[in-house]
Amino acid sequence: MKALFLVGFMGSGKSTLGKELAQRLSWDFFDLDNEVERIHHQTIPEIFNEYGETRFRELEKEVLRTFETKTKSFVLATGGGTPCYFDNMEWMKKTGEVLFIDTAPDELLKRLKGTKTGRPVLKALNPENFEEEMLILLEKRRPFYLQAPWILEKNARNIDEVIHMLNS
Ligand code: S3P
Repeated sequence: MKALFLVGFMGSGKSTLGKELAQRLSWDFFDLDNEVERIHHQTIPEIFNEYGETRFRELEKEVLRTFETKTKSFVLATGGGTPCYFDNMEWMKKTGEVLFIDTAPDELLKRLKGTKTGRPVLKALNPENFEEEMLILLEKRRPFYLQAPWILEKNARNIDEVIHMLNS
C-alpha cells in the first residue's frame, strides 16, 4: 500500500491533479475536505460557522489520521491549511509521499477571486485588501508546504516524473 498526499494553497489544483494521478496509477482518490464533510454530515462552511476554525482543524486532523488504515494505495488531496497545523506534515511524511503543488501566486489569485463562499478562510480576509492579504497568508504557509520532499511545478513532463517516482 502506498500513499500520496498532495499539499498546496487553495486553488493550486490539488483535486484536479490528484484525480489525474490516481487514475493513471489505478489508485483510489480522496479529497480530505469531502471526507470531513461526509463523516461529520456538515459542509466546511457550516463547521466553521458553528464551531469555529479551531474545531475544524481538530476534525481535519482526526480525519487525516483515518487514512492510516487504508489497505489500497491512494492519492489524498489535503486542504490548503492541513500541513500547517499540529504535526500533520510530519505524519504525512511518515505515512507516505508528500507532494507540494507549487502554483504561481498570480495564478492562485486569478482562480480564487470570486470563490470565497465555499472557503471560510478566504471569506475572513478583508475584501478591500484581498490580494495583499491572500499573498501574506501564502507567504506564512509556504515554509510548511516547502517541508514536502517533492515539489511540482505543473507541466506534463513533471507529472510523468511523479508517476515514475511512485511506480518505482
Ligand atoms: C482551507 C482550505 C480548504 C478547506 C478549508 C480551509 C485553508 O481546502 O480545507 O476551507 O485553510 O486553506 P482547499 O485547499 O481544498 O480549498
